[in-house]
Amino acid sequence: MNTFELKTRVCFGEDSLGALAEIEAENAVIFTDAFMKKSGNADKIASYMKGCRNISVFSETIPDPPIELIVKALEFLLDANTDVVVALGGGSSIDAAKSTILMYEKKTGKHVPLIAVPTTSGTGSEVTKFAVITDREAGVKYPLVSDKLLPDVAVLSSELVMSVPKTITADTGFDVITHALEAYISTLANDFTDAFAEKALELAFEYLPRACKDGSDVEAREKMHTASCLAGMAFNDVSLGVNHGIAHALGAVFHIPHGRANAMMLYHVMKYNAELDLPSAKPSRACEKMAKIARFIGLPAYNAKQGATNLINEIRRLSREVGIPQTLADAGVAKSDYLANRAHIVKSAVNDACTATNPRKIDAAAVETILRGIEKFDK
Ligand SMILES: NC(=O)c1ccc[n+]([C@@H]2O[C@H](COP(=O)([O-])OP(=O)(O)OC[C@H]3O[C@@H](n4cnc5c(N)ncnc54)[C@H](O)[C@@H]3O)[C@@H](O)[C@H]2O)c1
Ligand SMILES: [Zn+2]
Repeated sequence: MNTFELKTRVCFGEDSLGALAEIEAENAVIFTDAFMKKSGNADKIASYMKGCRNISVFSETIPDPPIELIVKALEFLLDANTDVVVALGGGSSIDAAKSTILMYEKKTGKHVPLIAVPTTSGTGSEVTKFAVITDREAGVKYPLVSDKLLPDVAVLSSELVMSVPKTITADTGFDVITHALEAYISTLANDFTDAFAEKALELAFEYLPRACKDGSDVEAREKMHTASCLAGMAFNDVSLGVNHGIAHALGAVFHIPHGRANAMMLYHVMKYNAELDLPSAKPSRACEKMAKIARFIGLPAYNAKQGATNLINEIRRLSREVGIPQTLADAGVAKSDYLANRAHIVKSAVNDACTATNPRKIDAAAVETILRGIEKFDK
């Protein structure tokens, strides 16, 4: 038996922030980062929360939240005797909030509802049961997966993403494309998740270039915010693939932002997954599905192999257009540093929980082959 579930209530469109007025609590915590506090967005969110008696702000989240941060945040939630959490920020703030609540609930036996308000259009964390936490000492990013991590409410407000700078728009936008594509060809993909992935890809390929070209394009921002959430709904159920396995490994060791690491890998991973290098006459299932997406976004696809090839080339073209680094050197990684960590990265990627649903078999040799695509260090 297969199941497909949606738990999170999604509030979107004009006045979506008004949903925050419905929260009734004695002690509410806004869980965010320093930028959101400084920019006045945390205060703005608080001003909507009229049903909350006491509101405190935890603003210490940092990109790729480490275990130490969760421990600190737990103390904060305990001190505030928290009844409800509003996570405001990118995937890092939302994931840190999710992981902290999990520990808080375990410690107190209390159920704490989570309202997620994403300020980047990328991770889809507002609707997923995933939270990615970094173990700095081990140099590993762990995707935690539990139904308990699913937010109760997601509030999509494109107003909040208008300030995202171009590089982060490009990085996070590619995270959306990677989520949707990996979910679409995941070994667990089904008709329900395919529907979400197809719509996410249709929107992202159309609106990401616009959002990157002109950050004040409200329609493009809004559509990318929707695409991010839809892609989250797709992978929430069927997980991802080796692209995320490698991105987590590169992120943990070299601190390459999550979306950028995904973007750098996507061309190479899709090429591997399409199995165009194998002599088989029959195209793989992943290849056929890539061709379907190619048709969907208006690329020629007379047959599966041609369609998949065109999609893969479009990924590379778009990544160059929006300024994604194409090699580790371009991403600021020194050759010696890379070589010293290469074996660890390969091992982490193979063992990453996301890699398990990759459509083509993954072992160390496969990851090495894929990584070769970004290993150019000579100018
Ligand atoms: N839980 C999931 O389902 C899931 C899925 C994919 C990735 N992730 C994780 O999420 C994290 C990445 O999240 P992210 O890509 O959203 O980035 P992020 O949350 O790390 O934020 C990146 C930067 O953007 C800034 N920022 C955020 N919103 C902004 C705004 N509106 N204007 C200006 N600056 C803004 C932040 O302050 C930060 O400096 C990684 O740890 C990744 O592994 C989680
Ligand atoms: Zn991702």
